[in-house]
Amino acid sequence: MCGIVGYIGKKDATPFLIEGLRALEYRGYDSAGIYVAGQGVLKRVGKVDMLTKAIPKTFSGNAGIAHTRWATHGSPTEANAHPHTDTAEEVLLVHNGIIENYHELRNELESEGIIFYSDTDTEVLAKIIGQTYTADTLLEDAVTRALARVRGTYGIAVMSRREPEKIVATRLGSSLLIGIGTDGYYIASDATPVLPHAREVIYLDDGEMAILTLETYAVRNAIKTLVEKSPETLEWDAESVKKQGYEHFMLKEIMEMPEVIKNTLRGRLDPDEGTSILGGLRDVMPRLAHIRRLIITGCGSAYYAGLVGQELIEEFSGIPVEVEIASELRYRRFTGDPEHTVLLAVSQSGETADTLEAIRIAKRHGMLTLGIVNAVGSSIARETDAGVYNHAGPEIGVASTKGFVSQVAVLALIALMFGRQRSLSEKEGRELVEALTILPEKAAEILTRTDSIAEAARSFTSTQNALYIGRKYQCPVAYEGALKLKEISYIHAEGYSAGEMKHGPIALIEPSFPTIAIAPRDSLYEKICSNIEEIRARSGRVIAITTDGNTGLTRLADHIFYVPETHEALLPILTTIPLQLFAYHVARERGLPIDKPRNLAKSVTVE
Ligand code: AGP
Repeated sequence: MCGIVGYIGKKDATPFLIEGLRALEYRGYDSAGIYVAGQGVLKRVGKVDMLTKAIPKTFSGNAGIAHTRWATHGSPTEANAHPHTDTAEEVLLVHNGIIENYHELRNELESEGIIFYSDTDTEVLAKIIGQTYTADTLLEDAVTRALARVRGTYGIAVMSRREPEKIVATRLGSSLLIGIGTDGYYIASDATPVLPHAREVIYLDDGEMAILTLETYAVRNAIKTLVEKSPETLEWDAESVKKQGYEHFMLKEIMEMPEVIKNTLRGRLDPDEGTSILGGLRDVMPRLAHIRRLIITGCGSAYYAGLVGQELIEEFSGIPVEVEIASELRYRRFTGDPEHTVLLAVSQSGETADTLEAIRIAKRHGMLTLGIVNAVGSSIARETDAGVYNHAGPEIGVASTKGFVSQVAVLALIALMFGRQRSLSEKEGRELVEALTILPEKAAEILTRTDSIAEAARSFTSTQNALYIGRKYQCPVAYEGALKLKEISYIHAEGYSAGEMKHGPIALIEPSFPTIAIAPRDSLYEKICSNIEEIRARSGRVIAITTDGNTGLTRLADHIFYVPETHEALLPILTTIPLQLFAYHVARERGLPIDKPRNLAKSVTVE
């Protein structure tokens, strides 16, 4: 997600702004920008160093804001970097979050003759603030009025050339804090940049607005009433602040899951029509209408997400889907009709070499290529003909957690869209939209149950091998769960279709060879119960994942993790979370470097 820093006070703002941008680099970004009162705006694509090298020594002033951009709308370019401004170039705005209704607002403004220089949702907000910022209006009131027209999430800091000794900061769904220093006031998206300068901080709550000047600060609520906010004392060190107090990025990213699912789905569900709205596919809809074959490709977790997508898309739309590991697909001889075949590449980083090469080959065959990508402006995002961004925010831990869940959620949206264009009824569509809408709350419920998962993990640390089994939608979850355990705890784990047990794997079962069975109360529950019975009959230990209220496994499993019920097709999004937490706690018990496991890289950009 983007990073915001600001300063106003007796000192020169520029040194803090530069230092603050560096402190925010861990959040992941692709461009950066700065505004200092009396000096103007500088922006650069790439590393923060690119920007700092461009800042002249004379670039100083008592107030300023700066921003690191993790692109959500519009590729990483200087024009898209923040700060953004209004038509009169009076207002300067940096923003973290997603303006959901920016399309309609931009259309309105363009119909009034407003010209845009960027592709971002943020510039739309800057233009609206500029429109409300009339000569007799204070900046804070112009911002409040403009935000009344906006839907979505924001953490913003705003300045104006007309009121150079003021910074206005406000938030809705995206964190912002104010550092109370002895030499001025600091603004930041999180405490990391503020730590060296102020230990007393005020965390703004949703709807609250801070108005900072050289000498004073005030906080007011959405109805402009002043709010007494008592400062909190920061105890964390810089490293733990980056992880927002979590011991590892992986745990932080699992705990972010409700927000991630919300952001992935934001603005993409149509409850009236019972379908999904995927703006990134709009231009290729005519070609998608004639699709006869879909090839989903990816590597690792992205490939497993694709396997869930296969079940979803075939179940909802009847379109034949095949899923191929990218490093295999690129060497296979392509057969079939490229005019009616679509390649869908799944990649969190958007830079995985094998996946990128598979796309290039598909394009050479004349196929339409789509992407599900988290990193905006990445190679795969740019080289596919169209696609859907995850909006999951940067994933720092090498083991994909929120990336995988977000990928499955996007695949569910694509399946819903294809389904409603074909045989899926409006009623079925609405049921899915409703189930997707409340999924974040169900994920949050799972995250209140982590103690039982940590307890089960403690009994697992000396295990050398493990088998994960599941059926239909849960079979790829078994593969993914096994991958999580493998890659961060170094325990050998295999994911298997539960129906395959009798065809070999059951020979492995003995007391020292545990099985993790993903057995929600779904259409194949009785089948997987038989598999669990067979394992128990051979003294195999079983850890089961099932759904709330299902008591059928208590006599069969040594540990049971429960997830809330939801639509069977969406259960993989929930059953994956306990498996991620289980792998995390086993690796933690084994004292391993969870965020950076041995031999692994976050993005495999080589073949
Ligand atoms: C997942 O935990 C692994 N880190 C790895 O399998 C990853 O999913 C794979 O390398 C694909 O990466 P991508 O999604 O960035 O293309």
